Amino acid sequence: MPLINIIPGEKIPVAPMNVRLPAWRVPGWLLVFWWLARGLFRLTVLAVRYWWLTTPTVLGLWVRAEYGGLVLAGVVLVVAAGCVGWWRWHRSSWLRFGWYPIVSRVRALTVFRRRWASVMATCGLATAFGGDRYVPQLLRVRCDRYGDEVTVRMLPGQIPDDWGQAAERLAYAFRLRHGQARSTDRPDQVVLRFLRRDPLAAIVDPLPVPVVPDLAGLPLGVREDGQPYELRLAGSHVLIAGATGSGKGSVLWSLIRSLADGVRSGLVELWAFDPKGGMELAAGVPLFARFSYDDPDGMAGVLEEAVKRMRLRAARLRGLARQHTPTVDEPLIVLVVDELAALTAYITDRKVRDRIKEALGLLLSQGRAVGVHVVAALQDPRKDVLPFRDLFPTRIGLRLTEPEQVDMVLGDGARDRGALCDRIPESTPGVGFVVLDGVREPVRVRFAYLTDDDIRHLGRTYRRLDDTDEQEVTP
Ligand SMILES: Nc1ncnc2c1ncn2[C@@H]1O[C@H](COP(=O)(O)OP(=O)(O)OP(=O)(O)O)[C@@H](O)[C@H]1O
Ligand SMILES: [Mg+2]
Repeated sequence: MPLINIIPGEKIPVAPMNVRLPAWRVPGWLLVFWWLARGLFRLTVLAVRYWWLTTPTVLGLWVRAEYGGLVLAGVVLVVAAGCVGWWRWHRSSWLRFGWYPIVSRVRALTVFRRRWASVMATCGLATAFGGDRYVPQLLRVRCDRYGDEVTVRMLPGQIPDDWGQAAERLAYAFRLRHGQARSTDRPDQVVLRFLRRDPLAAIVDPLPVPVVPDLAGLPLGVREDGQPYELRLAGSHVLIAGATGSGKGSVLWSLIRSLADGVRSGLVELWAFDPKGGMELAAGVPLFARFSYDDPDGMAGVLEEAVKRMRLRAARLRGLARQHTPTVDEPLIVLVVDELAALTAYITDRKVRDRIKEALGLLLSQGRAVGVHVVAALQDPRKDVLPFRDLFPTRIGLRLTEPEQVDMVLGDGARDRGALCDRIPESTPGVGFVVLDGVREPVRVRFAYLTDDDIRHLGRTYRRLDDTDEQEVTP
């Protein structure tokens, strides 16, 4: 017997432990019975889960066995004719309750469930612990005209941002285009939206001019989900950032259009600044109370005048109201600036530049409550170009040239949450990302496009009442 040495010099005897698992003898018929029962159970679960496939198949087989192939063909024809009739009679309800539920189920089976576990593993969303594999659960797939919405139960330890970062990889893994993740009311679930085709591919025509502009929701374009995109101007300033040719002009014009009826009735005053020589905004001169272009000194003067108006108004409102309500005597003043950097960075005369910066800083920090708003377009969102960027509560990111610029415009983490401004193709100007009130994930929108004729027509139809006597044009 081997000896083990515990205390030096002293040996105690040990014996090898004999571990043997007890062996159970299972009769062969019981084993076969177990396999059959298990197989049957799984088959039943599958048949119930895919009832939309199994029920028509079983019914079809039954009809064929009972009445023959001709009757079956007749039944199929009647069902098909019923579907076509429904489609012709009421297309939207057929798509909603007939067609898309079928497409969703087929795509869930053929696209998502088929590759689910392997895609989760390759995209780093599955994990292993204690020898077991854990894969997020695919709960639901819903398809519509443009894309697929996949609801997933996350693994413990995952957050929607993890899925946001993986969304693009997931989209490509399922052979789809753009992908975005969004959180839901349920803290254990996340919804992935994949696009099959772009709902924003077509140019958006100018939207109807609101009869009375609602500052809490000015219609400027359409969202990816087909709803109108409405901008909240009340209590806000708006920054529009986008590379050259990204469609900043269409955002400015859509906004001007949405305020046009207020301009006509005198509730809104537009002060336009077009430092790039007046090329963009000149066509709307009849709408503008002030129109400045080219001369930096003149523009500084107009901005200082806006500061003066703002201060006087603040003095009048002090103690009476905390938020200004536009009237004809005290209209809403909207300063529309095309290319803000041309005011704040590219002016060579330092004195004028400092005057402009000071006036802008005051307007941005104090104007919101007294109905003086700044809407500014900007090509380059780098910090040294615009020190006031953080004073714009509402920001719109059109096509940008670099990924880093996205977070600069829309805020930290915006790109991870799906605002892929740097991936917007040049072929879709006017497409951008916005952050909506109460929605964490940025939303993709396309702004309405006004042609030169539309702008001229807008100017003629909604020109200011006191156009002739008060308007000031500063070159
Ligand atoms: N919303 C839109 N829908 C469709 N096409 C658009 C839209 N906006 C702009 N475009 C097209 O893109 C072109 C460039 O747009 P725009 O002049 O507004 O760009 P920008 O961002 O102002 O560029 P820049 O910084 O050079 O002034 C327009 O001439 C027009 O043809
Ligand atoms: Mg422009």
